Amino acid sequence: MSSKAPTRRDFLGALGAASATVAIPQWLWGCVSEAEFQGRNQQWEAQAAQIEADGLYTFGNPGPWEGKEAVHVPLVSLNEGQGTVTVTVEHVMEADHYIPLVYIRNQNGFIIGLREFSADEPAAIVDFPLPAGTTSVTAFAFCNLHNNWVNEPSGV
Ligand SMILES: [Fe+2]
Repeated sequence: MSSKAPTRRDFLGALGAASATVAIPQWLWGCVSEAEFQGRNQQWEAQAAQIEADGLYTFGNPGPWEGKEAVHVPLVSLNEGQGTVTVTVEHVMEADHYIPLVYIRNQNGFIIGLREFSADEPAAIVDFPLPAGTTSVTAFAFCNLHNNWVNEPSGV
């Protein structure tokens, strides 16, 4: 038995004609890097999908919450040279009305940062490190009374 590790060509060759029906890992498709794929957190995605299904509002589309945009739409600022963004939600943090969740998605729609808050925290402000290759960040903030809100994507 050869100790030489098989090459990618060996692997693909061994698959032969059947390769057309073999599921290729998403990180090999070319549009998503391996690091990015592995960084995708399935628990975060499931959590976000659940709250996004109940409504997703913006400055331009506040749904039933017109007039409440400014305190719900998250603000994103890039921290130059630090590789992080700060997300701020200018919302009250009270026992019966607060921001339990803030998260960000990258240019491919993957969640690259998520932070849960409790009502007794002073503010819904969080710094997220940006994985290499991040070119855009979209921030989401969930209010326990007023659903989920999203900002416009920010180039980083
Ligand atoms: Fe609210």
